[in-house]
Amino acid sequence: MRVLIGCERSGVVREAFRKRGHDAWSCDLVPAEDKSRYHIQGDLRTVLPMSNMWDMMIAFPDCTYLCNSGALRLYTGGKKINGPDSKRWEQMYKAAYFFKEILNTPIPKVCVENPIMHGYAREIIGARPTQTIQPYNFGADASKRTGLWLRGLPEWVNTAYVEPRMVDGKPRWANQTDGGWNKLAPSPTRGIERARTYQGIAEAMAEQWG
Ligand SMILES: C[S@@+](CC[C@H](N)C(=O)[O-])C[C@H]1O[C@@H](n2cnc3c(N)ncnc32)[C@H](O)[C@@H]1O
Repeated sequence: MRVLIGCERSGVVREAFRKRGHDAWSCDLVPAEDKSRYHIQGDLRTVLPMSNMWDMMIAFPDCTYLCNSGALRLYTGGKKINGPDSKRWEQMYKAAYFFKEILNTPIPKVCVENPIMHGYAREIIGARPTQTIQPYNFGADASKRTGLWLRGLPEWVNTAYVEPRMVDGKPRWANQTDGGWNKLAPSPTRGIERARTYQGIAEAMAEQWG
């Protein structure tokens, strides 16, 4: 199968497909971290018109302006105080229309991945995730509720459950503090580290859809 992995710099999903014999390519605005020759550096939208080349596309667009956890930041100082942050709304619209464009690309099998979205973005995109998953159901010691918007692909079956530690009766995985926050301290590379696809998720994608 020829598989396009959109918005992927790490190459984790590309390599999970390649090692199973698929002709998989990643595409990102930035170079591939592993310097693979199976990486297209550029805007994913320039590759999509060649949709008849691809059997499947899996994409990981940026969630900064779409995710529920960032919804409050659409307003400076809160909804009722200073009102909308117009720059951020513009960025949110751009991100949501990008998401919608890649979701509707005429490739036979499509998966677009993103964390749980706020309602403004969901309304533009016009579709809820087909399925939500947790990395801890796919062999990764991590909690991160993630949506999969699927077309032409079956929903996933959980592979390997990772037991959490219990803190005051609450489950916590390795990426979480005892209070349930993300463990990664602020740093210049924090965003990249948090966005990297978990190996177990990549293996499940390639195993179950490949
Ligand atoms: C949330 S990160 C996904 C990272 C991915 N899970 C990985 O393991 O590499 C989003 C990625 O989308 C890329 N991106 C943003 N806009 C893009 C575009 N128009 N075309 C291709 N890639 C884009 C960013 O450079 C970033 O690497």
